[in-house]
Amino acid sequence: MKTVLLLLCMVYLFRSIFFDSRKSGSIMAPLMLADTKQKRLPQAIIIGSRKAGTRALLKFLELNPAISAASNEVHFFDRNINRGYDWYREQMPESELGQVTIEKSPAYFVTSSVPERIRSMNCSIKLILILRDPVTRLISDFSQLVSNRIESLDKQNELNVELPSTEPTGNSTSTTSLEIAWKQAEIEFRRYTLRPDGSIDDQRRAVKIGEYSRYLEKWQTTFSMNQIHLVDGENMIKNPQEELRRVEDFLGIRHAILPEYFIFNPKKGFYCIATNKSSNIEEDSISYRNQSRGIMRCLSKNKGRRHVLVDEALLSKLRSHYKPYNEYLFSLMGKKFDWK
Ligand code: A3P
Repeated sequence: MKTVLLLLCMVYLFRSIFFDSRKSGSIMAPLMLADTKQKRLPQAIIIGSRKAGTRALLKFLELNPAISAASNEVHFFDRNINRGYDWYREQMPESELGQVTIEKSPAYFVTSSVPERIRSMNCSIKLILILRDPVTRLISDFSQLVSNRIESLDKQNELNVELPSTEPTGNSTSTTSLEIAWKQAEIEFRRYTLRPDGSIDDQRRAVKIGEYSRYLEKWQTTFSMNQIHLVDGENMIKNPQEELRRVEDFLGIRHAILPEYFIFNPKKGFYCIATNKSSNIEEDSISYRNQSRGIMRCLSKNKGRRHVLVDEALLSKLRSHYKPYNEYLFSLMGKKFDWK
């Protein structure tokens, strides 16, 4: 069985070299034009999980010159598979021959058809999965919906319309209405996560995503565990360089992401990238000037956003709900993350 798999893998590798070099006109092109940039299918994919820090992981990995990362979520294996591999390759950035092309689409992790589809493309692909405490992940996911809604309401100026006539007008009005909207979101979060009998509603999509072991089991039947690298999303926030070093090892690339590349931004509560260039042309990041260390580039305001407040009783219910899933996850992983 293993010999057959090995043969299939070799056929794949031959095919990918051939197809990747087609545009250069010759099967020998990669050897002759070793320094020519071209688009390649990814050799590594960040498969999830949604709201666990996938963007930070990709952005920070790009600090290593051996990485060439697709900036948008491509959603090839869950939504665009019918467009074919040529389309998929077209979505990738150009890369040198020795670079690792990588994309991230967090929906892959929870879409049941995806593992087999990825395997059919490349059975030796490297998969990266970042996971964070499922309770925080759920709150982050829900808070994203709330803040998107508040933003769009704000744009339509509907918030002001809904206010009682006694409220003052101007900036303070929109601050008040913002607080009302977030207070309302606390009630909605309860309604979303709890059934009328007070039990956790595990049919809710955002609740289900945090039952990580359900999905990881499926990936493990399709790929060997040494093809899947797990990143602790909580540690990624506190100590990004440590997690990135492990990813570099997994990808087999030189350690090039150094501690001095990171500056903690107390205002944002997250690490940002130390840089000497002020660039606000990237949609997913924003530059700040730091008194002692020059300029830092942080992820956009959509990352590290405000969270809906959840009372201790509901938090404790959610923790109990996820506990058996976490324990099973850690046994599948063969290691434990320190999620308090
Ligand atoms: P919140 O915005 O809820 O805090 P994803 O990129 O997968 O959507 O994950 C978003 C989450 O990444 C953010 O959720 C934030 O907590 C986390 N994150 C991790 N490192 C970060 C960093 N350096 N800057 C901003 N957010 C970071």
